[in-house]
Amino acid sequence: MRVPVVVANWKMHKTVGEAKAFVATFLPLVEGVKGCTIVLCPPFTALPAVGEMLKGTHIALGAQDLFWREQGAFTGEISPIMLTDVGCTFVIIGHSERRGRFGKPDPELADPQLRSIFSETDASVNKKVHAALKHGLTPIICVGETLSEREQGHTDEVVRTQLRKALEGLTKEQVAQVVIAYEPVWAIGTGNVCDAKEANRVCGLIRSILSDLFGTEVSEKVRIQYGGSITPENIPDLAAQEQIDGGLVGGASLKPDSFATIVKTVAHAKQTPMDFSNLWKP
Ligand code: 13P
Repeated sequence: MRVPVVVANWKMHKTVGEAKAFVATFLPLVEGVKGCTIVLCPPFTALPAVGEMLKGTHIALGAQDLFWREQGAFTGEISPIMLTDVGCTFVIIGHSERRGRFGKPDPELADPQLRSIFSETDASVNKKVHAALKHGLTPIICVGETLSEREQGHTDEVVRTQLRKALEGLTKEQVAQVVIAYEPVWAIGTGNVCDAKEANRVCGLIRSILSDLFGTEVSEKVRIQYGGSITPENIPDLAAQEQIDGGLVGGASLKPDSFATIVKTVAHAKQTPMDFSNLWKP
């Protein structure tokens, strides 16, 4: 039975003060919630403060990216060692907002050449996944198609390629530890949540690709999330799907009450059936 995982990706939101205020309100709201891994991914600047507040709780700290080298002349980058040093145990890798070809149009940039601001590739995603695992960080690997790729019928092929390249060179034991987030680009920040059945289909496809590549035992262990315009209103439908093991939440994770509702809904929907086998019998 897979333990579901719900992750807050705050993206470029919240000062240290705002992050601390969130945690102070959020902790009591999810006190006693069991059977669900909860992860907060604040921006780098808030990691130490949030990490301090999460110490001794059942909530994990995650970063939104990392660089694969341990140290060196890499201005502006963050190493896996720096992340574990402040208490991170998870890291998001290959988010579509960082993948070069998905660079979103920014109205402030007139030159279309400048629209792909970041330059993540399948190869750099793979290096980052290896680096994360080497340092004991659980990678949350994002895959997903753009709107035009979906319209052209290329969804399955895009997801298959991204997944295969991200996991290249990993052992079965390593693959069993990763979290995969299916985040269709057209659903992120748009309010256009993917239909729950279709999200379930793609998450199932991801599991069958994992099974082809690494065997069924491994594929049954990997946690596969959906992400893209998750809200407290649409999470019950998504969480009810068999292949969806939780969510990667952007906008709705910025408010403690809406994120707590999402966490509780997932935990409730995925409750492990009661095990009667150990009960005392006369
Ligand atoms: P939204 O929930 O704001 O659509 O963002 C999803 C996302 O990108 C999480 O990583």
